[in-house]
Amino acid sequence: MKILVVGKGGREHALITALVESPTETEVYCFPGSDAIEPLAKSVHVDGLHALISWMEEQQIELCIAGEESYLVKEEGLANLCEKAGIPCWGPHKESAQLEASKEFAKEFMLRHNIPTGAATGCADIDEARAAIHGQYPTVLKFDGLAAGKGVAVCADEASAEEFLNEVLVERKFGPGRLLVEECLVGPEVSIFAAVCDGEYLIFTPARDYKRIGNSDEGPNTGGMGAVASRQLIDAETLALIEKAIVQPTVEGLVKDELPYRGYLYFGLMLTADGPKIIEYNCRFGDPECQAVMPLVQGDIASFCHAAAQGEMKPELLNFDEGWSVCLILASAGYPASSRSGDVISGLMDIDGARVYHAGTRCNKNGEWETNGGRVLAVVAGGEDRLTAVDAAYSELAKITFDGAQLRTDIGRYNF
Ligand code: AMP
Ligand code: GLY
Repeated sequence: MKILVVGKGGREHALITALVESPTETEVYCFPGSDAIEPLAKSVHVDGLHALISWMEEQQIELCIAGEESYLVKEEGLANLCEKAGIPCWGPHKESAQLEASKEFAKEFMLRHNIPTGAATGCADIDEARAAIHGQYPTVLKFDGLAAGKGVAVCADEASAEEFLNEVLVERKFGPGRLLVEECLVGPEVSIFAAVCDGEYLIFTPARDYKRIGNSDEGPNTGGMGAVASRQLIDAETLALIEKAIVQPTVEGLVKDELPYRGYLYFGLMLTADGPKIIEYNCRFGDPECQAVMPLVQGDIASFCHAAAQGEMKPELLNFDEGWSVCLILASAGYPASSRSGDVISGLMDIDGARVYHAGTRCNKNGEWETNGGRVLAVVAGGEDRLTAVDAAYSELAKITFDGAQLRTDIGRYNF
């Protein structure tokens, strides 16, 4: 089966590894790809979405998988164009991907379908935003568009809210767009992933992302410094509640609203004292959750995605390991404010008890791996129980070194 995956990071490295390990014989390509992905999936060098579609047609690609989201909403949309070209696509249409691209669209969708979420008000300018905050702190401010993960601020007081409002609504740091003032929810966060195919879904192993740079969730937000995944992460009763109150009404809502959806859907949730509430949708797998979840997926993920992209959900093709998986991120110096490239990475060859997925690396002219971005590597290990998996991941990670490497030392050590 000839497959093209869109993306280039650690998530795509994990997705592609799983596709290559599927019992179905696969020939995988990656756009734009990376040096580390290259041995598993050749990089595709084309310019833009239309050129990519033509390339897929020429190569007779049988399945296109959206790893990252940006192409889903660019131009006419990756899935829309694939459909026109007759190429099955695992990733939703542009109209449906507004669930991720517009926070206001997502909030209206949640309210229309009675999906529990924080109360919110959409605002066009700073006066409307101040009125909506109404002196209530903490408050959550969300820019209504894609902002490379920097569009959300949880503000403890008026000073920090004013600073963010000025950046977004006066200086227009992210360009034109509205802003959502949202009720601040409290509780542990959990990421739920479902494979959605028209009106059907299959829930994958739940995961938790560690978003802050520092131990004990301190310091600025990052793209994710680690993740744990396990069926045991949340109890069966809570998972059943999440399914009934959030996953099911979302999938039914997509059908009711005639929003075509075939692909992974990510539910970012907070387990509040009033029950689970949704804080965001993403129209793709999470990063770094994917790196933790994929090693727990057994069966034939290539055939599963291929069938579901064509409208046939075949849950019998997959099984989920009951154990734990722990993903640790090594980030480069300066991250998340900046990042440093060109630090030589050593120790990769000594890893024998973990999977390593590359996010920001490149192979230099001496054939060495070096840093090339903020998040550099993900080290993933499994175990029957949480602490076994945590210890295994940390002892393997200790073999890898590069100048300025940053990591958290508390990933998975506490169960919320
Ligand atoms: P997002 O970019 O939407 O993933 O949001 C980034 C982070 O902001 C989330 O992972 C939460 O930790 C936090 N957040 C978003 N919405 C809320 C909310 N309504 N209440 C509290 N925290 C929130
Ligand atoms: N783990 C957060 C994200 O993928 O957006």
